[in-house]
Amino acid sequence: MRSVHELMSLQGRVAAITGGAGHIGRAFAQSLAELGCNICILDVAKDRAEEVASSLRDTYRVKASSFVADITDERQVAEMAQHIVKAHQRLDILINNAAYPSLSVAEDGKKLEDQTLEQWEPNVNVCLRGTFLTTRAVTPLLRQSKNASIVNIASIYGVVGPDMRLYDGLEMGNSAWYAAAKGGIVQLTRYLASTLAPSIRVNCIAPGGVWRNQPESFHVRYVARTPLQRMAVEEDLCGAAVFFTSDLSSYVTGQVLLVDGGWTSW
Ligand SMILES: NC(=O)c1ccc[n+]([C@@H]2O[C@H](COP(=O)([O-])OP(=O)(O)OC[C@H]3O[C@@H](n4cnc5c(N)ncnc54)[C@H](O)[C@@H]3O)[C@@H](O)[C@H]2O)c1
Repeated sequence: MRSVHELMSLQGRVAAITGGAGHIGRAFAQSLAELGCNICILDVAKDRAEEVASSLRDTYRVKASSFVADITDERQVAEMAQHIVKAHQRLDILINNAAYPSLSVAEDGKKLEDQTLEQWEPNVNVCLRGTFLTTRAVTPLLRQSKNASIVNIASIYGVVGPDMRLYDGLEMGNSAWYAAAKGGIVQLTRYLASTLAPSIRVNCIAPGGVWRNQPESFHVRYVARTPLQRMAVEEDLCGAAVFFTSDLSSYVTGQVLLVDGGWTSW
């Protein structure tokens, strides 16, 4: 039997992370790199993506590249797959994490009747169309790996409806697109897990709200409703990412792990 240390090792493997220049994507990249994984950061944000790749190279001495692509664009996604082959020659891990395109309009606080397609379409597209296109493009590469793992990033709001009392009196809110897109990610995970088995494992992390200087009244209400009595921070999500991407979970596929401080436990 291999040791837990051996099961956790990602030495020599390659992971591609969409939205890898964002808050959570960057934390995933750091955790995987710490375990020896080479990383390809995929993002629309050129400077941030290269900055993350460069800091991974400096800090963890792994091979890290960045590639700028809009994952909703089929041609750019094909180029992205070519980049992975050229820069890394293989792929073992895909984390579908990108969300929140900068083109989307800020109307999260609006009631349903006032929510628009201008917000719905780019957001649902990044989460669902982007995950579909990216996964489809790299599946032939992942099939060549003996340890292939896809991790999709959903949300508690892909599993339960929002408690709108949290947003009383605030401009921030919780829009329909998020429920639809993240619920879609949860179910797409199950579809991919059963259709890509046994060559590729596919699992999902559904995080609770991450602390980002939200208004104090929201924060107080969120914490009061959370059994572990705080919002998440990025590092709370990294254990789940290491578990799903490494051989620690070699017999686990099709699962949705809620990392939410107990938010959905009552
Ligand atoms: N922040 C939270 O509270 C929270 C809670 C639950 C789930 N999540 C999920 O975690 C994931 C990461 O969220 P985050 O908080 O790090 O967000 P973030 O905004 O910090 O990062 C998202 C990244 O995706 C990139 N991106 C957007 N559109 C893209 C496109 N078309 N092509 C390629 N890249 C694109 C952005 O440039 C950005 O770097 C998302 O899927 C989000 O829904 C976040």
